[in-house]
Amino acid sequence: GDLDKLQRRPPVVTIMGHVDHGKTTLLDAIRKSKVAQGEAGGITQHIGAYHVDVEHNGQKQQIVFLDTPGHEAFTAMRARGTKVTDIAVLVVAADDGVQPQTIEAISHARAAKVPIVVAINKVDKVEAQPDRIRQELTEYALVAEEWGGDTIMVPVSAIRRENLDTLLEMILLVAEVEDLQANPNRTAKGTVIEAHLDKAKGPVATLLVQNGTLRVGDIFVAGAAFGKVRAMVDDRGVRVDKASPSFAVEVLGLGDVPAAGDEFEVYLDEKQARAIADQRTMDQRQARLVQAMASRRV
Ligand code: GTP
Ligand code: NA
Ligand code: MG
Repeated sequence: GDLDKLQRRPPVVTIMGHVDHGKTTLLDAIRKSKVAQGEAGGITQHIGAYHVDVEHNGQKQQIVFLDTPGHEAFTAMRARGTKVTDIAVLVVAADDGVQPQTIEAISHARAAKVPIVVAINKVDKVEAQPDRIRQELTEYALVAEEWGGDTIMVPVSAIRRENLDTLLEMILLVAEVEDLQANPNRTAKGTVIEAHLDKAKGPVATLLVQNGTLRVGDIFVAGAAFGKVRAMVDDRGVRVDKASPSFAVEVLGLGDVPAAGDEFEVYLDEKQARAIADQRTMDQRQARLVQAMASRRV
């Protein structure tokens, strides 16, 4: 029935690239340009992810950017076999070209089978040579669409906020091809993006909902931690009562601090959820004990 129907969900994007090629500046520029379009709430970032609205094919669509450094996100994903990113934006500075971390980013994205959109950044600089970047990237089997290949490359200036709308549109185009879907009408599951212990609030976790809808009052297990959603805030720090697929929210109500990269899942039965969390806590303790014994023997 309707309850099992899959629906289109927004793409979850990470930004990768070599040191100083402009990843942070690009993320800031995208966020600020969206806020400047009249959204209330200011630009303070509350969680390690944020949502932007983009006009695409005459419709308002959304993109979720993860703020974790791209390579860290991919390393965590690979270690746990989870996939949190749908699209990687590879930032390459047009005055510096392909560098070691550019190549590393390409291999991370490939290993995770995540499509790459290239942002050729800093095109405002006189030293910028966008065609040299296109040429260099062909050596890594990334051939620009305008050169007959299938990789979208968008020249941008993060600092001048130029061509960012094109970049966002191209991300949505790639998302369309990927046909990203989820079922909002089921209990939520997803991944812990970040978690810490707040002195006043207790354990706080940013959860990326990958399927279903997460609601205040939901009972869940994140890694080995039991939780009941007490309150949720979105990327602007605004309290919300639900989060649908691809959205990230900061959640209060955990009994423990899970690890970044842990999966979370909502349960209808509180007893069952507590039993699962207890079992995992014991398993983790056992694993640590085995490890400690092993290192003692060496
Ligand atoms: P790390 O996080 O250290 O790896 O660097 P990053 O990739 O986040 O680069 P960041 O955004 O910190 O930018 C590095 C430098 O490049 C800063 O001095 C930025 O002001 C500058 N920069 C970023 N984007 C542009 C751009 O479009 N044009 C010019 N001219 N400079 C830029
Ligand atoms: Na930097
Ligand atoms: Mg940075």
